Amino acid sequence: MQNTVSGFSKLSKSEKIDWIVATYFSKNNNARTVLEQYWNSNSKLQQLHDEFIENTITNFYLPFGVAPNFLINGKSYTIPMTIEESSVVAAASKAAKFWYSRGGFKAEVISTKKIGQVHFTYDGSSTELNTFINTIHSKFFSETASITRSMEKRGGGILDIKLNDKSDDLDNYFQLHATFETMDAMGANFINSCLEQFAKTLKREASTNLKGNLEIIMSILSNYVPECLVRAEVSCNISELNENRNLQPEAFAEKFVQAVKIAEIEPYRAVTHNKGIMNGIDAVILATGNDFRAVEAGVHAFASRNGRYSSLTHAEIKGDRFRFWMDIPLALGTVGGLTSLHPLVKLALEMLGRPSARELMQIVAVAGLAQNFAALRSLTTTGIQEGHMKMHLMNILNQFEATPEEKDKLVAYFKTNTVTHSAVSETLNRLRQSN
Ligand code: HMG
Repeated sequence: MQNTVSGFSKLSKSEKIDWIVATYFSKNNNARTVLEQYWNSNSKLQQLHDEFIENTITNFYLPFGVAPNFLINGKSYTIPMTIEESSVVAAASKAAKFWYSRGGFKAEVISTKKIGQVHFTYDGSSTELNTFINTIHSKFFSETASITRSMEKRGGGILDIKLNDKSDDLDNYFQLHATFETMDAMGANFINSCLEQFAKTLKREASTNLKGNLEIIMSILSNYVPECLVRAEVSCNISELNENRNLQPEAFAEKFVQAVKIAEIEPYRAVTHNKGIMNGIDAVILATGNDFRAVEAGVHAFASRNGRYSSLTHAEIKGDRFRFWMDIPLALGTVGGLTSLHPLVKLALEMLGRPSARELMQIVAVAGLAQNFAALRSLTTTGIQEGHMKMHLMNILNQFEATPEEKDKLVAYFKTNTVTHSAVSETLNRLRQSN
């Protein structure tokens, strides 16, 4: 069977499934049923989802959960989280509850600048190019006026455009490096439209005013946004870190700070440590219709900004105070994109009180910090498996196709016994044999 196809995009959804089934599942007559069982019976809602991407053949569900009891800058939130991994929502909820009674989280937006670049080559003198860019500088603004008008009304727009000479790194390579304020929009379309106009202006002006040859390579926003930065933090008296029966607050604080310091200097640990932070961040970003790939790429570049991949969070003990914090770049939007299209995204944003992009940056950063607090608290006390496996129990039971009665019995049994895959398997087998 040939696995290539021409004109696939033009087929109807049902014809696409016919092709998939015939090509890959000729011996599996269940494939079509699996795909179709996720279709929504509300045809309008289904069409909306079909049209988010291309070649849609079904929906892929992710759980939408909520973590209550977050206190951020004195305001209570229930944070929506979309994620497939068990224990993440429970961990966020537990950390939220812990900090609620200790003053809650503080968060502050440090800056909101976004970046875009026109990449081009020029084979003439860089001094001549510099002078030329200065002469046409105002045209970049005037020729994008129709694109920037509404954004300027909302308080945003183009903040700065400068020439970067990169020809020492790559022959003849220069950039227009532009800074933008996009207010409540993530701003990708706005920035890219401005950049493409800059490129047109630059090419046209260069053809009559420059001696050398100028070639536009590409125009695109950057997902590296170190100046679109938010800080989240918690602090309390060390004596308030008193929830663990087996560890005194001082010993816990010291172990916790040591765990963070290890992630600051050891990349193998830092990657896992930051993965735990992204458990919280990605989950809120997905639930609120933002682009987690853009955030992931920008965050990990930021974590490497000093030449070594390092922890995003930091912790210290000063006198009798414990402080735990994180600065993180987050380019988010609360208007545009999926935010006004996806019914669950709209509901999530409404639950958060229709936040501005700045407020959402704070909420998302706090979710990441809370997640890291929960993970580190488990790692430095009980170990991660105890809580994680407790939450994972249902998945293991579903794998073994446990009945509702079997589930009830095993959940009760594992309240006082350690969950491992083999322990669940053995206990379930014993139960089944005894019946
Ligand atoms: P616990 O103390 O056994 O829970 O913790 P509890 O039953 O005593 O309940 C306390 C609170 O926890 C609850 O309060 C909830 O807030 C929350 P309540 O609602 O009763 O007033 N909670 C739950 N929320 C929703 N559903 C539940 C639930 N259970 C508790 N079923 C817990 C259990 C899992 C929370 C704890 O052990 C924990 O925080 N563990 C850390 C888990 C974690 O970090 N998971 C992330 C995945 S692991 C990973 O990928 C990242 C990692 O590698 C990162 C790194 O290395 O840094 C670890």
